[in-house]
Amino acid sequence: MMRIHHFKEMKSRGEKITMLTAYDYPTAKAFDEAGVDMLLVGDSLGDNMLGYDSTVPLTLDEMIPFARAVAKAAKNAFVVADLPFGTYEVSPEQAVESSIRMMKLSGAQAIKFEGGRRIARQVKAVTDAGIPFCGHLGFTPQSENALGGRRIQGRGDDGYDALLADALALQEAGAFAVVLEMVIAPVAEKVTAALDIPTIGIGAGPSTDGQVLVWLDALGVGDWHPSFSKQFAAVGAVMSEGAAGYIREVKAGSFPSPDHTFDE
Ligand code: KIV
Ligand code: NA
Repeated sequence: MMRIHHFKEMKSRGEKITMLTAYDYPTAKAFDEAGVDMLLVGDSLGDNMLGYDSTVPLTLDEMIPFARAVAKAAKNAFVVADLPFGTYEVSPEQAVESSIRMMKLSGAQAIKFEGGRRIARQVKAVTDAGIPFCGHLGFTPQSENALGGRRIQGRGDDGYDALLADALALQEAGAFAVVLEMVIAPVAEKVTAALDIPTIGIGAGPSTDGQVLVWLDALGVGDWHPSFSKQFAAVGAVMSEGAAGYIREVKAGSFPSPDHTFDE
C-alpha cells in the first residue's frame, strides 16, 4: 500500500509516479488493480461526472460519497480527495474543518486544494492537523474566472519566479507533493528540480516527477480531448457498442436466449 514517504523515495530514485482521477468503486478498483500509485477524487467530478459547467458549483457534501467509494476500492493506491471551491479559502480553520470532514466521512488518505502563497496558512494548518496535503498550482480550474480562462501558466518574465515561490510556500507548509497543471515544460522542469517534494504534472511536459490525467480523457470517454492528454483506450466507444448490441438483441427477441432464462 502506497504511503507519502514512497513518493519522496520515487522522486529521489527517478521512478515516475502515476495518478489517475477516479470517482466510483468499479473504476477505482480497475485502476488500483492496474497498479496506479495514486487515485485522485478530483473536483473534476462536477464537470466530468455530474454535467456541471465548471468545478465551481460542486459542494463538499456532494463529493463525499464518491470519495468514499474510491477509498473503499483502493487496496494499493494512495487516495487523494480534492476540497471543492468555497470550502477552504476563508480561513485556516475552515480548511481544517473541511479537510477533517472529508477524511472522516470518505476514508481518503490526503487532501488537495488549489493555490500557493495565498493559501499557505491553510496548508500549514491542515498538515499540522496530521493530514497529508497535495498542492495544485499552474492553471487552477476553481479560479478559472480570475485567471481569464483556461490559460497556459508559467509564461512571461516572472512566470518561473512566481510559480517557484508558490511551490516553495507549499513545501514549507508541509505539502507532500504538488500538481502542476498546464505549465510550460521548461518551467515545470525547473520547479521540479528546485523542490524536495515530487511534482505531478498534467499538461506540464515530461520532466515532472509524476503524471496525472482525468480518466475520462485518458480512456476516451466524452468528447473533450485536451491536447495535453492522450487516449489510451476508447472506452466510450466500447460502451456505446455494448449498449447498441443489447438494444438490438432485445428488439430482435434474441436476448434473453434459453441460456439466460430460468425454465422452472
Ligand atoms: O480535479 C481534478 O481532476 C484535478 C486534476 C486535473 C489534477 O485536480
Ligand atoms: Na481538481
